[in-house]
Amino acid sequence: MNVIDIILDKRYGRELNDEQIAFFVKGVTDGSIPDYQASALLMAIVLNGMNEREMTTLTLEMARSGEQNDLSFVGDITVDKHSTGGVGDKITPLVMPLCSSFGVKIVKLTGRGLGFTGGTVDKFSSIEGFDINVPQDRFGELVRSVGVVISGQTPDLAPADKILYALRDVTGTVDSIPLIASSIMSKKLAGGADAIVLDVTCGSGAYMNNVDRARDLAKAMIRIGNLAGRRTVAVITDMDQPLGRCCGNIMEMEEVWDTLSGKGEEDVVDIATVIASKMIMLADKQGQLSSDELIEELRARLNDGRARDEFVKLIRSQGGEFIDGVPVYRDRPNKIFEVRSKRDGYVRSIRTDEIGYSSVMLGAGRLKKDDEIDYGAGIKFIKKRGDQVSYGDVLCELYVGKDSVITPDSNALKEIADKVFKAYNIMPGAPEKRRSVIDVLEQQ
Ligand code: URA
Repeated sequence: MNVIDIILDKRYGRELNDEQIAFFVKGVTDGSIPDYQASALLMAIVLNGMNEREMTTLTLEMARSGEQNDLSFVGDITVDKHSTGGVGDKITPLVMPLCSSFGVKIVKLTGRGLGFTGGTVDKFSSIEGFDINVPQDRFGELVRSVGVVISGQTPDLAPADKILYALRDVTGTVDSIPLIASSIMSKKLAGGADAIVLDVTCGSGAYMNNVDRARDLAKAMIRIGNLAGRRTVAVITDMDQPLGRCCGNIMEMEEVWDTLSGKGEEDVVDIATVIASKMIMLADKQGQLSSDELIEELRARLNDGRARDEFVKLIRSQGGEFIDGVPVYRDRPNKIFEVRSKRDGYVRSIRTDEIGYSSVMLGAGRLKKDDEIDYGAGIKFIKKRGDQVSYGDVLCELYVGKDSVITPDSNALKEIADKVFKAYNIMPGAPEKRRSVIDVLEQQ
């Protein structure tokens, strides 16, 4: 088989057969197909697409390109959850205790943040003592005693995706439904869970910036999941403004704690309870509750401390420290600036990608994979979509940790504040109210 023929077939819009796709993935993984030929095929896929069979074969081949996790030791249905990314996304630390309160078993393998999207590893690591690198031989013990375990120490899952994703990043080939769907689903399939709930974010802080494309991506991933024998559900959620009250590692974990103490923002509670309900139902742990009753029960468990007790168990089991029953963090966020409105009106939307990059500039995230992060850095949103603002009102507050190089009179801070202000779209007239769960898609 010849890789040039495969590139030409896709260039002329022809369907690739399973052998061609397998040849390509194997060649990328073992290095026998050079980057320039892999990139040419990626571009042809961006331009001419892939049908469902091609997408599924590509996903399965990528999933088989490295280790495949075996979760059979759990002895029960395992469920995984994945978000396509966003800003202020603190849903994983909320759904884990909500699910474990219903006896759902979760082995969550998760990554560090890169670019404007925060990473769950960094959020949990902001708790003093918390060990996010759990060796695989401890997973069984933690799942038996706590029900859930979270680890950033992932086996070599889908190495073909790592190579292709790095190439896509530098060849303008990220934005393609077949490539995004196969990239995400290859890692989920190799992760080994029996069922998968996908949070497909939609808006200025997401890969998909309109609902139709988000639905197309969700449908593609559900079909791949189902064809691969994993029950898969997708929840489309709004990312046209940051999620919740803040972004930044410690600040988000503090918000998680508040949400588990019955003081959550409605958008966060809405998404967390809908996603947890789907995970619980896929694990068949809902008992006699209907879907609506289950969501009500999950809301009750956020308000009465039952989910918080599960969260404490999870954090303690991986070494996280508490003082007076409250988690201890590695730093303290210090308010350094208030961004004020320069006009009257209503907040229509917030450019979430710009907020994400501003938060990275404050130190909360990484642009390169080895960048150090400032756990205390972040942004607190005082005004969000639908809020009325007058000239001079505080829109949001900027925070940094104690060792930050960003000082109150630095040019860097002025640049960040300006970027954050410009991210707020303030216009006359109140916008329509929108729910943050836009749609739920099940079987396709
Ligand atoms: N996340 C992934 O893992 N892959 C993509 O292609 C896009 C988002």
